[in-house]
Amino acid sequence: MENISPALLEWFYKNRRSLPFREDPTPYHVWLSEVMLQQTRVSAVLPYYYRFLEELPDIPALAACGEEKLHKLWEGLGYYSRARSLHAAARRVAERFDGVFPTGYDDVRSLPGVGDYTASAVCSIAYGQPCAVVDGNVYRVLSRLTDADVPTDTAAGKRYYAERARSLLDESRPGLHNQAVMEFGALQCVPANPDCECCPLRDRC
Ligand code: ADE
Repeated sequence: MENISPALLEWFYKNRRSLPFREDPTPYHVWLSEVMLQQTRVSAVLPYYYRFLEELPDIPALAACGEEKLHKLWEGLGYYSRARSLHAAARRVAERFDGVFPTGYDDVRSLPGVGDYTASAVCSIAYGQPCAVVDGNVYRVLSRLTDADVPTDTAAGKRYYAERARSLLDESRPGLHNQAVMEFGALQCVPANPDCECCPLRDRC
């Protein structure tokens, strides 16, 4: 497939939502936002995201935070295990990495609660490393673009989409590219009744 990144990025610049973690994409901000966004909608995440950072502005503060306070900050967001992993990971960063979020993909991926998706998001968005993210939105965009009826719930299917995502990644600006694909899936290439008439990729889909 030809390079879709220029058209995607043009669409992204015109249509992206203004989100706080895009203004100041430090590793901590990107990590926290991606963990919160994993099972929760953007509109529900935002108030929690602001309050969390007001109370715990950096990783050492999160590492030192008491269980009760953490519970209060997360209460209502759901899937509390995410907060527990976040807390454990912050402590590990404090102990093993001197309080500085690691930069290597494998070190990031080794933190509690951090899977391929989160590690790729942090490394590409915060550090500009060429890692392709694959989430539910990306699956849908790629399966439509490549006209693939490949299921996402098998190891072979996941490999297929990870490989497609890697081959389409714009390595000169991986963080922007990844955010553009995710945003495109969230706003334009939606699950039901997408408006293909005004899609910038309609000629190659
Ligand atoms: N959903 C989860 N993370 C996102 C991001 N960085 N951009 C757009 N949508 C997202």
